[in-house]
Amino acid sequence: MAATGEEQQGAKAFYVTTPIYYVNDAPHLGHAYTTVAGDVLTRWHRQRGEKVWYLTGTDEHGQKVMRTAEANGVSPQEWCDRLVEEAWKPLWEHLEIANDDFIRTTQERHTARVREFVQDLYDKGEIYQGSYEGPYCVGCEEYKAPGDLLDGEGEWAGQKLCPVHKKPVDILKEENYFFRLSEYGPKLLEHYERHPEFIQPESARNEVVSFVRRGLEDLSISRSTFDWGVKVPWDDKHVIYVWIDALLNYATAVGYGSDQAKFEETFPADVHLVGKDILRFHAVIWPAMLMAQGLPLPGKVVAHGWLMVGGEKMSKSNLTGIKPQDLTGHFGVDAYRWYFLRGIQFGQDGSFSWEDFSVRYTSELANDYGNLASRVAAMVNKYFDGLLPEAKGAGEAEQAVRDGLAKAVAEADRRIGDELDFSGGILAVFDFVKQVNGYLTEQQPWKVAKDTSPEAQERLATILYTAAESLRACAVLLNPVMPRTSGLLWDSLGAEAALGPLAEQRVQDAARWGQLPAGSTVTKGAVLFPRLEEPKDA
Ligand code: MSP
Repeated sequence: MAATGEEQQGAKAFYVTTPIYYVNDAPHLGHAYTTVAGDVLTRWHRQRGEKVWYLTGTDEHGQKVMRTAEANGVSPQEWCDRLVEEAWKPLWEHLEIANDDFIRTTQERHTARVREFVQDLYDKGEIYQGSYEGPYCVGCEEYKAPGDLLDGEGEWAGQKLCPVHKKPVDILKEENYFFRLSEYGPKLLEHYERHPEFIQPESARNEVVSFVRRGLEDLSISRSTFDWGVKVPWDDKHVIYVWIDALLNYATAVGYGSDQAKFEETFPADVHLVGKDILRFHAVIWPAMLMAQGLPLPGKVVAHGWLMVGGEKMSKSNLTGIKPQDLTGHFGVDAYRWYFLRGIQFGQDGSFSWEDFSVRYTSELANDYGNLASRVAAMVNKYFDGLLPEAKGAGEAEQAVRDGLAKAVAEADRRIGDELDFSGGILAVFDFVKQVNGYLTEQQPWKVAKDTSPEAQERLATILYTAAESLRACAVLLNPVMPRTSGLLWDSLGAEAALGPLAEQRVQDAARWGQLPAGSTVTKGAVLFPRLEEPKDA
């Protein structure tokens, strides 16, 4: 069995990050998608018995946030405080995100270290003064390559548009400080070559490699036309470019420059989760910044696709941003966490529909899984007064269930824990749920129960034990994805008394048969996935 967290004191933590989100608005499904994925991944690793650090937070500087605050008639800091406290943190709590820290880029623990980092690069000659003119998208907070822009039509005829936001770009001309990014191309390519796993999926890797092969330009790392940012230490007419400031959160939040022991135990990240639109920042600029400073590079940058609405990336700016709470109120938090990871291949774009969610909820969660749990609990109550009977002997059918479980555990552990193939891993568990349902349909315990002979009663005991023990494993395997309902199932199986808390069960040990002791008190418990109510506007 894997060592527990306490036994690993001093060992490097499995460190996972989400992007830090702009607080120009409240979170929508797209933001929650990444944060839930990271939560499932880190809960999975915690249940492997590993030491884990899961970081999320907010990106509060830059023009985008500043303009929103102005439009709302408050200072940028007031705006950020309000949004963080009233929208972002409450959502993560609502979605049961178990992050270990929440970094805000306006915190002193961050800004002080950002200044030191940039000063260091300046002292090393990695930063120089120059001027730049080019198209800038405030939505992306990024200078765009002219060749990537789209031609505007209609109200924007004659203007150039950002390909992501489909809005006109600003033409900026500024005296700036530049980071010698262009010098890092060969070293980056060498790193990608040596570590093929560094950028995932394959399509994302290919895109970055060909981008870097085309040659990198130096990067403007300061802005001087507004002041909502971290001041450049040697020239306070400039603020540090918001992306340089933001990327450094991954270091400052874990003790860079302030707590060396914590830093060494945590940094670098094993997995940076990002949307594909911000891949280059993480797979090109961030590693180059680290190389310039002689710091170790992250293990993997994993880019996921976009949640789409009407063929476009869901976003607040095109008014398609849907609030997670609009869905959790109807489907529940656990089903929400499950649905997007189950339904969309991580790395691909995916569209969401209320109908698709309803269909999957009803067939997979309510009918396949929820019903299995309630039928088994009901039969143990009816035929054995709620005490789990002992299995007397196992035949071929039972062996097939055990084999199915072993396969599901190995597959889910590999896919979710190592490959970030959440849909494949969840599917492996739900295939097993289907198998157990099939087993009950074939064994017909309700018929066996009618025969009062000792042999039939023994057979009945074996069937129900097999089903309950299978559910014990499902609760363990689905806990990272659906912590609330898995907890309800754990309670209903009376598992805690003998096996301890659910979160302490090791995923890789879930197939070891016979963990649930005979005599456990099985209660009917709450319905895991209640029948959906008709939507109000239906
Ligand atoms: N602040 C930067 C990130 C800095 S990280 C050092 C930023 N913030 S963001 O709020 O605009 O976006 C954060 C993440 O949300 C990105 O990974 C982006 O891909 C993701 N999503 C925003 N809309 C999305 C969808 N419609 N679908 C899936 N994810 C999307 O970029």
